Formats: sequence, structure tokens, C-alpha cells
Amino acid sequence: MPHRTDLLRRRVLQAGAAALTARYVPLAVAADPFRIGLILPLSGPFASTGKQVEAACRLYMQKNGDTVAGRKVELIVRDDTGVAPETTKRTAQELIVRNQVNVLAGFGLTPLALATAPVATEAKTPMIVMAAATSIVTSKSPYIVRSGFTLPQVTGPIADWAVKNKIQTAVTMVSDYAPGIDAESTFVKRFTSGGGKVAESLRVPLRNADYGPFIQRAKDAKPDALFVFVPSGEGSAVMKQFDDRGLKAAGIKIIGTGDVVDDDLLESMGAVAVGVVTSFHYSAAHDSPENKAYVDAFMKANGGMRPNFHSVGGYDGMHVIYEAAKNAGADANGDKLVEAMKGMKWVSPRGPMMIDPATRDPVQTVYIRRVEMVNGKPWSIEFDKVENVKDPGV
Ligand code: PHB
Repeated sequence: MPHRTDLLRRRVLQAGAAALTARYVPLAVAADPFRIGLILPLSGPFASTGKQVEAACRLYMQKNGDTVAGRKVELIVRDDTGVAPETTKRTAQELIVRNQVNVLAGFGLTPLALATAPVATEAKTPMIVMAAATSIVTSKSPYIVRSGFTLPQVTGPIADWAVKNKIQTAVTMVSDYAPGIDAESTFVKRFTSGGGKVAESLRVPLRNADYGPFIQRAKDAKPDALFVFVPSGEGSAVMKQFDDRGLKAAGIKIIGTGDVVDDDLLESMGAVAVGVVTSFHYSAAHDSPENKAYVDAFMKANGGMRPNFHSVGGYDGMHVIYEAAKNAGADANGDKLVEAMKGMKWVSPRGPMMIDPATRDPVQTVYIRRVEMVNGKPWSIEFDKVENVKDPGV
């Protein structure tokens, strides 16, 4: 065992060496880590959202490194199960108090984001909403910045497309909660103002939905088209009922927002999805060098899993966080980070992006796509687009 004075001497020497290092190489002084608390549904009915967003966040770090503004980035991931807003809120509080996170991120569904908004405000902590898509979300806290999309933003263009493509009557079918109501209101407003007629508006319970009777009712109304919004994860159940109830054979077109042909499930839906026309901000088939690189890297890192729209919400959310941390500097606090996010522009795998400085929502291109078989697999192939679409509100 070394003698006490030896130990003391060693400590003094170490302190001297540290002082020298500090004087001559100031960057070697370790700064606090930059902590990101990522809250996602990683179990339960919306686990696919969590899986996609987490994979994308990890891919972003793999490509861009785990240091930002001289600070080590720590990603702290928590599962909120996706169905209990109080759990999401409590998890956010714990991440702030115990883990001292600099930023909260994730939020798979609207009710979870709404429950957490007051926590972000109270703690003055930026809250990056990567998935939840109801228009009002960003208005609930000045610390919320959205990297995904809004339902009114992606719904308007399909209503306009329907009018232009001689669809005269439609039935709407949406999940009966906030984003579904946003989609229904936007579609009805835009479609009817263009001269279309909505025969019926159907709302399906969010949990344990049985789409069969609703789809039968839509079929009986004999519209030219059925407009659908369901959150990601639900598309396969809807498509099965379209098939079983013979909507295609009855000549009823399926249109909607791209959630129903979510790339995470599209492959497993198979031929029944072919011909469905949707408007949306992301397809894994988007033809750009940035997206090709993204899809290749994502699939390689995740055993062949196709990235869906929530994944780009996660990937771009990480980009917003990294760039804000760089711009806000070493003493970045919540206010400085949010200021740095406002008006930020970049090129994403989905196309050009901007964070609207007034609403903190993304401004982006919305594409019109049709599901087609390519090499034996269904993909949403873009054939038209509307650029610089802002959230129009409802
Ligand atoms: C939402 O709850 O805001 C939400 C979730 C999944 C979607 C769209 C919206 O696909």
C-alpha cells in the first residue's frame, strides 16, 4: 500500500498537471453533457411510432457524431406506452428533475404532447414534437417546436386533388380524436369549397377500432371516394376491411393522408393498397439523393426495416436540436435554444424544410402519391407536389 504522503504528493502532482492542461489546452476541460430526453411509445398499440423515431434518432447520431458544441450528447430514451398522457407528463418531469435534460423530444400522439406542454413551459425546456400532428399542439407552449407535420397541412392538398380529379362526392372516415377531427374539418372545408359534396362524416373510436361496420356504411353511401385518416399503426386493419367489403370492386376510390399507407406497414399490406392516392410530406420512395442515402442507411442499420414518416420527424428533430445547440453556444439555455430553432432551414430526406418562426411548425413540401407495385413491393410513388406548405390551422 502506498504511504499517505505518497498519495498526497501524487494528488498534488495530478492537480498541477491538470492546471497545466487547463492553462494550455482549455478545450480539454469537460463540459456538461447535452442531454436529450426522448419519450416514445415503445410498447403498446403505437410501438411502431416509437421504434421508427428511436431508430432515426440513433442513425442521426451515428452519422453526425455524439458531440455538439464541445459537449457529449446523451440520448435518454423512455417508453411511455403511448396510451396514458399522465405517464408521458410524469416521465417528462422525471427527465427534467432527475436527469437534468436540456431538451425533451419524441411525443408519439397528440394527447401525450398536450399533457406535457405545461411541463415544458414551467421548466423552460424545449420540447421537440417529432410525431404528434394536431394543429393546436405548438400553441400550447412557447417551448414546443415541431419537426414532423400537421394534419391540416397534409390534408388540404388531397382535397384539392380530389376536386381537380372529378371526385364529386365523398365520405370521410377518421379516428375520433384531435388529429382525426383536424383532418375531417380540413377535408370537408377544402373539398366543399371546391364544389365537392360530403355525403357523410364517420368517426371511429381510436382504441380497439372495428373498421368493418364503418366501411360498410361508407360503401352503402356510394360516394366517388372515401377519405380516410387513421394514425400510423392502424393502416393494415383498415385495408383489410376495404378488401373484405369490396370497395375497390364497387368503384369507390380510397384517398387520404399518407398515415393509412404508412411505409412501416405498407409492404405487409400488399396488393390491396395499390391505387390508394394520398397527400403527405414523406414517402420512403421519395426520389432525391438525400433520401436514397437515408433509406439505405436506415434499412442497413435496422435489419431491412423501411423508414416511415415518423422516422423523418425524429431524424429532422435531431437535426434541429444539434444545429440549435451549435448556434446557441456553450451557455445554451431553453430560451436560446428555441430562438435558434425559429426560422431554421435545411434539406431533409423529405425535401426542403423550415421552422416557421411565428408558429414553430414545419413549412414543407406536400406530395401527392399513388401506391404502385415496384419490383413486387408496394410503394407510395409521388407524382405531384405543393411546395412551402404551412399549417393552415383549421
Ligand atoms: C397524433 O396523435 O397526433 C398522430 C399520431 C399518428 C399519426 C398522426 C397523428 O399518424
